[in-house]
Amino acid sequence: MFGPKTHCVVVVGAQWGDEGKGKVVDVLAERADLVVRYQGGANAGHTVDTGTGEFVLHQIPSGIIQGAVCLVGNGVVLDPETFFQELDGLVARGVKVEHRIFISDRAHLTLPYHKLLDQAREARERLGTTGRGIGPTYEDKYGRRGVRVGDLRDAGRAADLVAGRVAAANEMLTMLGARELADVAEHRRLVERLAPRLLPLAIDAGRVVYEALERGESVLLEGAQGALLDVDHGTYPYVTSSHTTAGGASVGAGIGPTAIDAVLGVVKAYTTRVGNGPLPTEAEPATAERIRKLGGEFGATTGRPRRCGWFDAVVVRYAVRVNGLTGLAVTKLDVLDTFAEIPVCVGYLLDGEAFDSMPADLDRIDRVKPIYETLPGWRQATGAARRLADLPPPARAYLDRLQDLARCPVRYVSVGTRRDQIIEVS
Ligand code: IMP
Ligand code: MG
Repeated sequence: MFGPKTHCVVVVGAQWGDEGKGKVVDVLAERADLVVRYQGGANAGHTVDTGTGEFVLHQIPSGIIQGAVCLVGNGVVLDPETFFQELDGLVARGVKVEHRIFISDRAHLTLPYHKLLDQAREARERLGTTGRGIGPTYEDKYGRRGVRVGDLRDAGRAADLVAGRVAAANEMLTMLGARELADVAEHRRLVERLAPRLLPLAIDAGRVVYEALERGESVLLEGAQGALLDVDHGTYPYVTSSHTTAGGASVGAGIGPTAIDAVLGVVKAYTTRVGNGPLPTEAEPATAERIRKLGGEFGATTGRPRRCGWFDAVVVRYAVRVNGLTGLAVTKLDVLDTFAEIPVCVGYLLDGEAFDSMPADLDRIDRVKPIYETLPGWRQATGAARRLADLPPPARAYLDRLQDLARCPVRYVSVGTRRDQIIEVS
């Protein structure tokens, strides 16, 4: 991926998240100097299987396992308590983190009151959020009343800011009829306790990325969630609260869009979604269950069973467009190894007429009917393939069809969870 003309690469999810970005970032991070998370927060769950151990990362960039220097960008909403739990967990397993992880002083903090608000809203709105306080933290950010990492430098001001926010949150929680309110003293203590650990990691992250690129280093910008969960481009309101698409990488890492050289979209060879909202190619229960079992499709953050269905080329074509994807990484091809036939959605019918893109409104998305094309399966294990030529011809034909439908070249194919189970298409 990285080369003389490619120093800055964005990796994004091109479906509804859980496409296998953690694995792809881990593989690419071998050649990256810097890995930057740029949006989302503790809602993400990125799984890395090194072959000798499995790591699930929520807030720390997946590049940490390969030893890259990792940054949490300004676009991320950071839950400091679970961040340090995650960090301590890595240290306990022998991962070197010292001088390898830094946080933008412009990143906003997710505090316990945000989680209470998320849960109280969820009880009414039923979006199927992860309950990690993501939406309320972004609301505070855009309402210009958030608490940023850098705010902790002035302990007195931070304490006042947090007290004010907790009081306002409690008014809202009362209105929502929440059973539990936030505690001011507890929040003050939390911020006081975390500041001495957080502040030494706080930096001007955008500047660090800029200077690394100036020196000709390789930078990987790691997205979380997927294009169809983007607050602008996703299946609104069943979306997350950040810009998961490649444009978010520029804003959330603190660099200009001209600094980005390539955008790799990660897609599963089929489709999953966790949480509520439309999923046009959702399979009937028995097939969904079969895919779920074969693919281990349970949320890495919440453990919820993921909804499963067939590859949706309308979704991926849309993701190619809104992200400006320059390549695809197709993951979990091996999960389809036992199917005799594999349906692929090539377009939608909306009220009897062909419709070639993702409609904006839920009502129309709910009414689309996928048009399927059925491709032959290969009924052969693919987990040992390391070159395209190692794959059975029907599996190669399947990949060819996906890239034609998506209108974007396949650059990587993942055939298992392990780091070594990857094909780089040359
Ligand atoms: P939130 O991000 O917790 O507010 O949840 C909003 C929606 O995004 C819900 O449907 C979640 O299930 C979904 N979501 C959030 N993070 C992830 C993720 O990392 N993978 C897949 N879905 C996610
Ligand atoms: Mg995930």
